[in-house]
Amino acid sequence: MTSLVSGDLFAQPGLLVLPVDGDGPEPWRSALGPAFDTALADATAGKRPALIVREDGARVAVVAVGDEPGAERWRWASASVAGPMGGLGIDRVVLAVPPSDGAETAAALVEGFRLASYRFDAYRTEEAPASPDLAVWTDDAPDDLDAAVRQADVRAEVTSWARDLVNLPPDAKMPAALADRIAETATEAGVACDVWDKARIEAEGMGGLLGVNRGSLDPPRFVVLEWAPDGTESDAPVVLVGKTVTYDTGGLSLKPTKDSMDKMKADMAGGAAVAAAVVGAARLGLKTRVIGLLPMSDNRPGGRAYAPGDVLTMHSGATVEVLNTDAEGRLLLADALSYARGLGPRWVLDAATLTGAQGIALGERVAAVVARDADRALADRVHRAGEATGDLAWPLPLYPHYRDQLKSDVADLKNVGGRMAGTITAAAFLEPFTRTDGEPAFPWVHIDLARPAFLDTAYGYRPTGASGFGVRLLLDLLAEEVEGGR
Ligand code: BES
Ligand code: MN
Ligand code: ZN
Repeated sequence: MTSLVSGDLFAQPGLLVLPVDGDGPEPWRSALGPAFDTALADATAGKRPALIVREDGARVAVVAVGDEPGAERWRWASASVAGPMGGLGIDRVVLAVPPSDGAETAAALVEGFRLASYRFDAYRTEEAPASPDLAVWTDDAPDDLDAAVRQADVRAEVTSWARDLVNLPPDAKMPAALADRIAETATEAGVACDVWDKARIEAEGMGGLLGVNRGSLDPPRFVVLEWAPDGTESDAPVVLVGKTVTYDTGGLSLKPTKDSMDKMKADMAGGAAVAAAVVGAARLGLKTRVIGLLPMSDNRPGGRAYAPGDVLTMHSGATVEVLNTDAEGRLLLADALSYARGLGPRWVLDAATLTGAQGIALGERVAAVVARDADRALADRVHRAGEATGDLAWPLPLYPHYRDQLKSDVADLKNVGGRMAGTITAAAFLEPFTRTDGEPAFPWVHIDLARPAFLDTAYGYRPTGASGFGVRLLLDLLAEEVEGGR
């Protein structure tokens, strides 16, 4: 928990962090004298924090705020301190909010610092150093500061939880174990959690999920999370669907190991983001009804594994010719989207590490957003929430002709659309499963976060490995559902 302090800034114990926009506030300049200007010049030129050690030994880190858009620049500023100061044995960090700024800046500073301080230590035998206590200093403690900082703590915590799930090794998160882990955290947060076993999944006729699971020794799960605070129980829910492939070997269409299968423990990152967003909504007390759907399986070759040429009958009743067992995500997502029709949703969003083509098109920092033209407003909301949170997401078109790439010789659809426009044809595959009797059943938007979910290169407040991409974006969208917004 981040504490709030005001009063004499320079009397605060611990490392004082001064994020500086332009020349910096007058009171800070005059308190520190020429050392301030030198440190600011160094910080600006070196693009890293510059340390001032005061006469009494107190440390002050001056950070030159960069030109990232909106709140991102405050997140990046505090993040830039978390790394370099980590080894100094500092037991308290005080983030100073510039006197002209308020609660929003404070929240961004906290979010950035906490997210940048994340470590995945579960498998290290050496004991991790204790993380420092965090405080936020403001000159006049604005009214909304307390709530904003508490929200930032929660947003960072649930994002870190999603990162933990994604960083877990595959054998520690086979469907049954992952479902149990999620159920435990969800229940603690007051989220209802229903875990379907294989028999229930069979009874529901989820042929896509069952097909993907056929080569596995471990049975699938389908997890239904619901946050419905008092008075919203009969509202149409927002439904979030997350691809939760606990490990993607490619199945019989086996992946090569290097730079491919070796990262596929992250193939459940969409599901982790959805679970964390529903838990986050509950912990923030957002007054809106939301349901999370997580179809879970690994994808492996094995004696009974589904094979190229097999035809699956999906939850919707449609048939799919499988021509590549590595295009598995769309199969289990299709079943979840089809199931969502029965929930009478306000709108539906799915988040998935769906295609390598997403990274080819947009790179490691920008997810793809795909929606029907009729759902452009929803896609725009995703794009805007992306820029507000730093979980960047950019739209791709979904013209009806992309469907032509999915025509099968023997079934209603095939599961691969060829080399061209791979991210779009994956979305085009999902699209019919969001329809009832040929008509769109709900507004729907698809986010492909294949590369942003798991990073080769750290940036800002994101370490290598699991990024927690999408959690804060989803939370912003959910907060918008509540009257008055966040
Ligand atoms: N999980 C992968 C997509 C992926 C690739 C995620 C790289 C993260 C990084 C997905 O199941 C997959 O294998 N997609 C195939 C689809 C193809 C066979 C049509 C792909 O993108 O190659
Ligand atoms: Mn795959
Ligand atoms: Zn996959």
